[in-house]
Amino acid sequence: MTGGPEIRWHRHPDLAALTAAALERLGECAREALAQRGRFSVVLSGGSTPGPLYAAAAGLDTDWSCWHVYFADERCLPPGHAERNDTLARQQWLDRVPIPAAQIHAIPGELGPAAAAAAYRATLAGAGTFDLVLLGLGEDGHTASLFPGHDPGAGAGAPDALPVTDAPKPPPQRVSLSAARLADARTVEVLVSGAGKADAVRRLRDGDDLPIRAVTPAGGLDVHLDATAAALI
Ligand code: 6PG
Repeated sequence: MTGGPEIRWHRHPDLAALTAAALERLGECAREALAQRGRFSVVLSGGSTPGPLYAAAAGLDTDWSCWHVYFADERCLPPGHAERNDTLARQQWLDRVPIPAAQIHAIPGELGPAAAAAAYRATLAGAGTFDLVLLGLGEDGHTASLFPGHDPGAGAGAPDALPVTDAPKPPPQRVSLSAARLADARTVEVLVSGAGKADAVRRLRDGDDLPIRAVTPAGGLDVHLDATAAALI
């Protein structure tokens, strides 16, 4: 496949170093957004890789009252379920800082894919261009809940949030921001850690048709790898 986003690759020796670099970028993006626009919007992903970043982010010295938090995807599970992406972020980070509750925009996965996607489209309508989107990369090459072989919602007119009913990674029912909406961002950072990701990283480097290639922000993508994830490139 040709085209796709400009990718800047960043290699780190291990997850701790990757986390430190991501924390620095998060702090910089927040400072810049708050200085220039008086608000900071950030989109969070689930999975295990960002856990240490979320825990460390609770220690940032920032004006939390101006933060607006969104989610790249959610699993259709009850609120508070251990496998919901917002549960991870709340436990590690959001419950420990004074972001106003109304500015933490959870995806209501409990409504089921179609109703939750519709509700989140309404939420996103007021969000504007995101300041920072944090993404991951699954072993099968998925990002957010955009899975290989599924329509990533990249075209003009693609909805901001997509219902997912047949995800190959459990649970099958999810909601994902579309590739087009994820790309409407000033900065997009992709955090990839672990040997299980090495082949997906190689495929991304080789230009395979992975969903993340449909995420084409004007500023390109910054992809952060630890040494094991970078083993095949
Ligand atoms: C999800 C995540 C997903 C994640 C990747 C990487 O809901 O599953 O949002 O897109 O970012 O699967 O996850 P790991 O960090 O666990 O490898």
